[in-house]
Amino acid sequence: MSSNIIKFVHEDQIVEVENPDPNEILLNYIRTNLKKTGTKEGCAEGGCGACTVVLGELKNNKINYSAVNSCIMFLPTLQGKQLILVEDLVSKNGSLHPVQEAMVNYHGSQCGFCTPGFVMSLFAMFKNHSKFKDNIIKDSIAGNLCRCTGYKPIIKAANSLNSKNKIDHFTKNKQNTITLLKKIKDESIVIYKKDKRYFAPRYVQELKKILKKNINSHLLSGGTDLSLVVTKERKDINSVIYMNSINELNYIRNNNNYIEVGATTSLIELESYIEKYYPDFTNILKRYGSVQIRNVATVAGNIATASPIGDTLPLLLSLDAKVVLKSIKKTKIVPLNDFFIDYRKTKLKKGQFIDSIRIPLFPKNIFKAYKISKRFDDDISSVCASFNLEVINKKIKNIRIAYGGMASIPKRAKYCEKILLHSLITEQIINKAQEALEKDFKPISDMRASRKYRMEVAKNLLHKCFLEITQKKLIRVNN
Ligand SMILES: Cc1cc2nc3c(=O)[nH]c(=O)nc-3n(C[C@H](O)[C@H](O)[C@H](O)COP(=O)(O)OP(=O)(O)OC[C@H]3O[C@@H](n4cnc5c(N)ncnc54)[C@H](O)[C@@H]3O)c2cc1C
Ligand code: FES
Ligand code: FES
Repeated sequence: MSSNIIKFVHEDQIVEVENPDPNEILLNYIRTNLKKTGTKEGCAEGGCGACTVVLGELKNNKINYSAVNSCIMFLPTLQGKQLILVEDLVSKNGSLHPVQEAMVNYHGSQCGFCTPGFVMSLFAMFKNHSKFKDNIIKDSIAGNLCRCTGYKPIIKAANSLNSKNKIDHFTKNKQNTITLLKKIKDESIVIYKKDKRYFAPRYVQELKKILKKNINSHLLSGGTDLSLVVTKERKDINSVIYMNSINELNYIRNNNNYIEVGATTSLIELESYIEKYYPDFTNILKRYGSVQIRNVATVAGNIATASPIGDTLPLLLSLDAKVVLKSIKKTKIVPLNDFFIDYRKTKLKKGQFIDSIRIPLFPKNIFKAYKISKRFDDDISSVCASFNLEVINKKIKNIRIAYGGMASIPKRAKYCEKILLHSLITEQIINKAQEALEKDFKPISDMRASRKYRMEVAKNLLHKCFLEITQKKLIRVNN
């Protein structure tokens, strides 16, 4: 059974939208159709947080709250969720939500343009954590920009929530919301609107059938890359297949040899899971976009874009990850090292999709990763480097090194690896390995960094990795 009616919960009711435009952006719908203008548009590309709203989703009979950027979300993807806007935070009796009250009491707002976005990010934090430590507060608002108040009063406001009662009107109304969310059937969505099509299958089998008939469709996961075609390039996407309603592909499994990440698993889920195995993977993910981005974006989407500065890609390359590709009839497992062909080109063929990513476990190895960007938070890498090696008695037994931002694709540093393999860690060998990077890479100059800067940074990161190993301590500014 499929439907062309999008159903979601808002203001304690089920809202239905019949046959919407598949390219309709949620922010436009909120401001134009719902006529709620608290949610603002700043950048229209997920970078400023002014458009932040919170989505409630039912998982194991509980509501999961996540902050998202409504400016880069397509309206049909709201199916089956609860939409919470800044206006909804005020109780029916007119009293402000504790988060709003704190922002008033601590003077967290001047011109006010960014304020609804901050309030919604802090609201998601309020619902998801029991204690609001400094790192949690900073992480929660890293995707929100304020140009006039400054961040100190906002951080103080967030801190003051530690002494507030956690039971708000959403907690009191939880059972009713769960009942409403359960009433919205888990239907597949199929929309035909003029020359545009939108499909949201619920199962892999269904996805395969749709793909067979709509081979030229664009696969949509978190949409943090694809949606910009509409919001920034101002083009239409005529046929879309939404992957993230397929729960079957939302998993993280571990068979002690590798971690398998299903294609629709969000980065935020991976971020907490992988910390135990590869803490630096989590450190890099924490600096990947913002919470709003990581709540929806996927590793599969990151891999499929094949961006030379995609942050998970050098990490996955150094960990020798494999991509499980599926098509209507076949399954293929491709080493990530062979997956990227050229600038933003991969081996993915029409009719194929990424089903999962396998990340090997190296319990004896040292794994390190570094991201260099102009801004610490919410910025794309200039250079990203990742090292995975085993050292026995100061000798390197096996090693994989990969860099992002150094070539047209994310790439292993094979010459550099060759110098280091089976060598004792000495200053001389590190110098030689640094020189070998000149053979491995010919980086370009662009607005993020010059060619010279990139090469210098790549060499320094290699040096830093070995200093950290030999001195047995981290040399980090922020983490
Ligand atoms: C504000 C902002 C900040 C960002 N910061 C970072 C950052 O710090 N680091 C970084 O690396 N990236 C960053 N990005 C880029 C983007 O978030 C990533 O590329 C992201 O991983 C894409 O995942 P997604 O699920 O949103 O993909 P989508 O946008 O849904 O899709 C991206 C591409 O992948 C394809 N695709 C999606 N799923 C599949 C699948 N299962 N099988 C085959 N193809 C598929 C789509 O067809 C599309 O071509 C940022 C983006 C924004 C807007
Ligand atoms: S308007 Fe800037 S993040 Fe959405
Ligand atoms: S209060 Fe003006 S931008 Fe934040």
